Amino acid sequence: MCGIVGYIGNVDAKEILLKGLEKLEYRGYDSAGIAVQTGNEISVFKEKGRIADLRAAVDSSVTANTGIGHTRWATHGVPSQENAHPHQSTSGRFTLVHNGVIENYDIIKREALQGVNFVSETDTEVIVQLIEKYVNEGQDVETAFRSMLKKLEGSYALALLDKENDETIFVAKNKSPLLVGLGEDFNVVASDAMAMLQVTDQYVELMDKEIVIVTKENVTIQTLNGETVERAPYTAEIDASDIEKGTYAHYMLKEIDEQPLVMRKIMQAYQNDAGTLTIDNDIVNAIDAADRLYIVACGTSYHAGLVGKQLIENMAKKPVEVHVASEFNYNMPLLSEKPLFIFISQSGETADSRACLVQVKEKGHKALTITNVAGSTLSREADYTLLLHAGPEIAVASTKAYTAQIAVLAILANVTAEKRGYNQSFDLAQELGIVANAIEALCDDKEEFEAIAREYLSTTRNAFFIGRAVDNYVGLEGALKLKEISYIQAEGFAGGELKHGTIALIEDGTPVIAIATQEKVNLSIRGNVKEVVARGANPCIISMKGLDTDEDRYVVPEVHPYFTPLVSVVPTQLIAYYAALHRDCDVDKPRNLAKSVTVE
Ligand code: M6R
Repeated sequence: MCGIVGYIGNVDAKEILLKGLEKLEYRGYDSAGIAVQTGNEISVFKEKGRIADLRAAVDSSVTANTGIGHTRWATHGVPSQENAHPHQSTSGRFTLVHNGVIENYDIIKREALQGVNFVSETDTEVIVQLIEKYVNEGQDVETAFRSMLKKLEGSYALALLDKENDETIFVAKNKSPLLVGLGEDFNVVASDAMAMLQVTDQYVELMDKEIVIVTKENVTIQTLNGETVERAPYTAEIDASDIEKGTYAHYMLKEIDEQPLVMRKIMQAYQNDAGTLTIDNDIVNAIDAADRLYIVACGTSYHAGLVGKQLIENMAKKPVEVHVASEFNYNMPLLSEKPLFIFISQSGETADSRACLVQVKEKGHKALTITNVAGSTLSREADYTLLLHAGPEIAVASTKAYTAQIAVLAILANVTAEKRGYNQSFDLAQELGIVANAIEALCDDKEEFEAIAREYLSTTRNAFFIGRAVDNYVGLEGALKLKEISYIQAEGFAGGELKHGTIALIEDGTPVIAIATQEKVNLSIRGNVKEVVARGANPCIISMKGLDTDEDRYVVPEVHPYFTPLVSVVPTQLIAYYAALHRDCDVDKPRNLAKSVTVE
């Protein structure tokens, strides 16, 4: 979703801002802009479309040592040059970039900004106009900035330039992510450390409702009421090569291929000196003390949560509910007496999940976040964190984070089971090693998945995924992956459920991808395949060695039945990837989507 960068220092800011915005492209956007300042001249460049379009529009003869930049994912107003950020106040004195949603922007417009001529449809423009109004009424800029923030309701990360002061960027955040990066004789602002790794790996986290005065020598953090806050920087431990595509055509393919390595990294990270997979005692005790676990997540992370429920219930015999965050937030179920909440989020920034976490904490409950991003909002605000160790995931379509989430949930389930006296008949480290090898074999078989995608999905309008038990959950994930990057209307269903309505959509040649890795439902899912074939469907059965038959299109290597989702999801990821390629779609940056969904 929207991304912010800012630079104040001694060198030309344009290239640093543009490169920073390129690093934020993965978050999803539909327009972009920068504003650069020299003395009391501010030049704004903004374009609908890609950063490459913005780059082409920037006047290379303008040089400036201060600037802010933005990628916009449209919420209020269509993607257009007028609605792109930065936005300026009527006099042109103030220039602002904003990430988030101002919920009361309409009220502010009506009650405080009558007569102001707005040039965009955005909620953002009220912010910059409000500052100008307060300054015109006699407040100094810092006071006006504070007064403006006190008026805002909703989420924001923002950076402001003042034409009459080329030595400061004014920064603030609430609910939306924002960091300040530190350098020698320069400082930067970024939604994500990745954007500014080109110039620094030292970052300071910002908390909600803090304001920051950034100059090239100093970063002063204050509360909204003006109290100074001291906070030490941390080192962003991201390898610059992790965020490059290398020889891959797309991040998505690179990230699919990284999955065996991620499995092994997770095992290393969670091994104790004796080589046993382990989890922090406080977390295991908290889970053990709870009478019910509530997993809350969105999208792919929600699908990983469904698999996690199976693992925890099967192994640790602890009841688990799984909820979509955007629903849970407004329609919370009746909670058990001693609940514990598990938030699963690759980015750790998803606004829907964060809103639930805030509610859960207000009710005094404990929460664990499972995330790929150390220091992310969901990690900071939960009581406990388990990291995924998957490395940055750049493609909008989540792949390695999904398998990493399931692997970490498997370790959590296993350690909790041991604590509760339910010992398993297998060694988890060994089983995850088998899983890693199986994923590797699948990644080596890409031609097959390319052929399946061509055969079944290159021209179809729709496709169905069916499965039973845990295979149903993999089907849901397979359908999400396919629809989000290839725009084929794809739906996942429990195998037995199609005949209760959806089977009406089956026509001659409709692709039905059936996952069959579970012995207990092997015959019944094959029965469901027969039902759709009888109505003309083109079936593609993905089964597991040992359960396979001659009718199967692809057979994945055998792994323990608890861990089949880690393996059977890989064909669905690769099929989705190749289907999107065949249909000429932008694989890494699908239309309308954002990597980090920071608005509710
Ligand atoms: O960062 P999160 O895991 O919280 O993100 C949740 C979803 O937005 C995300 O999984 C989304 O569904 C992916 N684009 C799916 O590939």
